[in-house]
Amino acid sequence: MKIGMLTSGGDCQGLNAALRGVAKALYQEFGTAVTIYGIRDGYRGLIEGDYHPMEPQDFSDILTRGGTILGTSRQPFKTMQQAEENEATKLEKMLDTCRRARFDCLVILGGNGTHKTANLLSEHGIPVVTLPKTIDNDLWGTQVTFGFQSAMNIAVEVIDSIHSTAFSHSRVFIVEIMGHKAGWLTLHAGIASGADVIVIPEIPYDARAIAAAIQQRARGGKRFSIVAVAEGAISREEAAMSKKDFKAARAAMPYPSISYRLADELQKITSQEIRVTIPGHFQRGGAPCAADRLLCTRLGVAAAELIREGKFGNMVAVQNDRIVPVPLKEVAGRLKTVPVDGELVRAARELGLCMGD
Ligand code: F6P
Repeated sequence: MKIGMLTSGGDCQGLNAALRGVAKALYQEFGTAVTIYGIRDGYRGLIEGDYHPMEPQDFSDILTRGGTILGTSRQPFKTMQQAEENEATKLEKMLDTCRRARFDCLVILGGNGTHKTANLLSEHGIPVVTLPKTIDNDLWGTQVTFGFQSAMNIAVEVIDSIHSTAFSHSRVFIVEIMGHKAGWLTLHAGIASGADVIVIPEIPYDARAIAAAIQQRARGGKRFSIVAVAEGAISREEAAMSKKDFKAARAAMPYPSISYRLADELQKITSQEIRVTIPGHFQRGGAPCAADRLLCTRLGVAAAELIREGKFGNMVAVQNDRIVPVPLKEVAGRLKTVPVDGELVRAARELGLCMGD
């Protein structure tokens, strides 16, 4: 049996733990009858036929290692020599690699973009099994993606540390959390770390409402405020714009990120000293937390079971705390955003947190 494995899209904690889970379960089941091929740098390796056989020991001692031993890529097509080639040619090259390599299954670890391509491959007859990866937790069909809980722990640690310095200096701090399209990370980390304001892409913000919340805290004797802002946050004015106008407005924005613009807006209204902290890719690096190690191992074992049973065209997902297969065609192209009237947003409001609106 020949299995190809690749990791695609932005890296995160737990990729190696998940690869290890799949590999160990396959070796356990099939022994020397299985050969695993590592495909380098995600879909780039599949397009260019860049893969190599791996040994059981390659998957030892990687449970806690950050990043991915296989490498990854976001937009492999752009880096290719044949960049001018059309999508159909690229797809043809990927299909060709799979056929030539005679993979009995392609195991793909990735997020939203990755799943679109995985579904395409599956629709073209390639046996595919996928695992849900992203710190953004915005993949449809699963309660939680791996990487999310580790990134949340880091974001919480950052906001925890910011509390003491914000208190000492009586400052307002904006902490920018990753998540362009969905605010899961900001919402969860914001609540878990006791942020005072939480701004997510799903709820367009009003700077006056945030300033009012900060001023109210100051009147109540609070020396500082912490504003957790998702990198994809948008204002109410922007939410009312056409896609084209929004793009143009953002391209002309004289700030490196939304947090700096918000800091300026809040400074003008409140006259308080505002600082911005951006942990950035720090949120995606390092060892997976214990919860992710466990999740990745469970997902890996479940993926190996699907391979054994020949149940291809599925992503292993978490639903009602159980690992279940979800058809790729249901996952591909669908974003899981934070429900604006969901339990967690309501809980935040009931705690008296400002949600930016
Ligand atoms: O998709 C995961 C993510 O970390 C997002 O939260 C963030 O917006 C993006 O990747 C950053 O992308 P890049 O790795 O290309 O800088």
